[in-house]
Amino acid sequence: MSKISIAITGLSGVIGRRFSYHSKYNTSLTNLNHRKPTTKNSIQSVFLDLYQTETIRNILRQANPKVIVHLAAITHIDRCETEKNDTNGSVWKVNVEATRQIVEYCQESNTKLVYISTENVFSGIASEYSENSVLDPVSWYGNTKAVAENLVRTLNDYTIIRAVSAYDFMDSSTFLGSVYHTSELKKPLAVVDNHFQTISFIPDIIKTIDLAIEGKISETIHVCGKMISTPYSAVKAIKKTNQNDRFSFYPVSLENYFQSSADLRTKNAILNTAHSQSIVDFRFTELSDVILG
Ligand SMILES: NC(=O)c1ccc[n+]([C@@H]2O[C@H](COP(=O)([O-])OP(=O)(O)OC[C@H]3O[C@@H](n4cnc5c(N)ncnc54)[C@H](OP(=O)(O)O)[C@@H]3O)[C@@H](O)[C@H]2O)c1
Repeated sequence: MSKISIAITGLSGVIGRRFSYHSKYNTSLTNLNHRKPTTKNSIQSVFLDLYQTETIRNILRQANPKVIVHLAAITHIDRCETEKNDTNGSVWKVNVEATRQIVEYCQESNTKLVYISTENVFSGIASEYSENSVLDPVSWYGNTKAVAENLVRTLNDYTIIRAVSAYDFMDSSTFLGSVYHTSELKKPLAVVDNHFQTISFIPDIIKTIDLAIEGKISETIHVCGKMISTPYSAVKAIKKTNQNDRFSFYPVSLENYFQSSADLRTKNAILNTAHSQSIVDFRFTELSDVILG
């Protein structure tokens, strides 16, 4: 396979960590790392703090990639909310201003940008969202991701991949991955039963990033299953297969679980994939596919 030079941000995050396992392009990378440089010889590590927005374009010029995969962001919804409306804050700087710098670099150098976005760009008031639905975020996190999406959309060549509560059973740092790997709990786990989601399988997200790197997708795409689940129904389905587990859990509402920050969540996080499914060469994975193996 011919090598494409790719610079990637956020390789140490939940999605990025699985990149080296699932991507065809895991060797021709420049890891624009923040706190965790890579140790693999095949991956070049270059320090980049997205908060230092004035350094970004120079570092990208030196890396000179053909494609940038921009995963990095401050993603914790409640943490982001503490900086609500603060356009001098770190969340705005990392999620929006850093993306602006990356977009401007892509414009000047004709570089392809692959950007990962989220269901949190939508309020969840509608029954479902298409790739072209109007963005109406309710949280500061969602707001910064929506503004960043719109910046990315000014480019000629971009891919925006929207995902929902990404999971991978191989990674116990995702909620469903940790459920899959835990067979016993000291006390029963409260699991939300009214947060409706079309969840995303991390290997599918990475396969879609590969297609974007290859120039096969230049638009906004939803990468998630069609089946609607809640965290509770998902845990129930996973645990049904392990009869011997001493893993006990009980349903709780989003409102009881998150209390005053429940309203920041996209309660109906249902992304329609009819169009997106038609432009990829594989079927988006359902939770039941993964459970049944
Ligand atoms: N996980 C999901 O369920 C999900 C769903 C939909 C969309 N997304 C989107 O997918 C992307 C990746 O999400 P994730 O869950 O993998 O995120 P994550 O686990 O929270 O990781 C965030 C990544 O961003 C990097 N980062 C944060 N601040 C930085 C800074 N100042 N400079 C450079 N890098 C910085 C972190 O590196 P350090 O740790 O070294 O700071 C880390 O690699 C995000 O854009 C997110 O919005 C995620």
